[in-house]
Amino acid sequence: MSLKLGVMASGRGSNFLAIQNEIERGNLDAEIALLISDRAQAPALELATAHGIAAQAFPYDKSDRSAFEKKAGDAFEAAGCAYIILAGFMRILTPGFIDRFEHRILNIHPSLLPSFKGLHPQQQALDAGVKFSGCTVHLVTQELDAGPILAQAVVPVEEEDTEESLSRRILEQEHQVYAQAIQVLIAKHHAMA
Ligand code: GAR
Repeated sequence: MSLKLGVMASGRGSNFLAIQNEIERGNLDAEIALLISDRAQAPALELATAHGIAAQAFPYDKSDRSAFEKKAGDAFEAAGCAYIILAGFMRILTPGFIDRFEHRILNIHPSLLPSFKGLHPQQQALDAGVKFSGCTVHLVTQELDAGPILAQAVVPVEEEDTEESLSRRILEQEHQVYAQAIQVLIAKHHAMA
């Protein structure tokens, strides 16, 4: 049986789309059962709908994060999602949500963790003068951008790079590496079945 995934996305949704494309090409034995956003105007919602995937936005109130998370968690469970894929989800999850889906939430971050956690990691890499940066897929734990690493890709930093150009080249690698990490989950899932 294919692995059921839930996706959380706040914006553009290109990582979601890259994963969905791999599924549609038959390269990933998975199914995205539901995409949830914290922003009603997130382009990721329309992309999901265009691919026949159920998509929902729930209001996000910073002073009551668990209200959003309760709705999202219940919806993912009702849809039978085995894993939750954070694809440009720009909110910090509460410990309660992370516990509820312990070891079952994946995130992608545009740096070679543990370097450059948090916001604007590509600019942080430029400011630090590193010659290589990249992206990391990791399991989500209570500590921000710090869970066990599942996959990474390295991207050289060029002399003339701006935050935009480096972000663009890292994003190309993100689209490869997220599918690779999900492939590892699928293999594990099949080995356990
Ligand atoms: C991606 O670069 C992703 O790594 C980053 O947001 C972008 C979302 O793009 N996520 C984070 O920085 C999480 N801390 P997308 O919406 O096109 O997938």
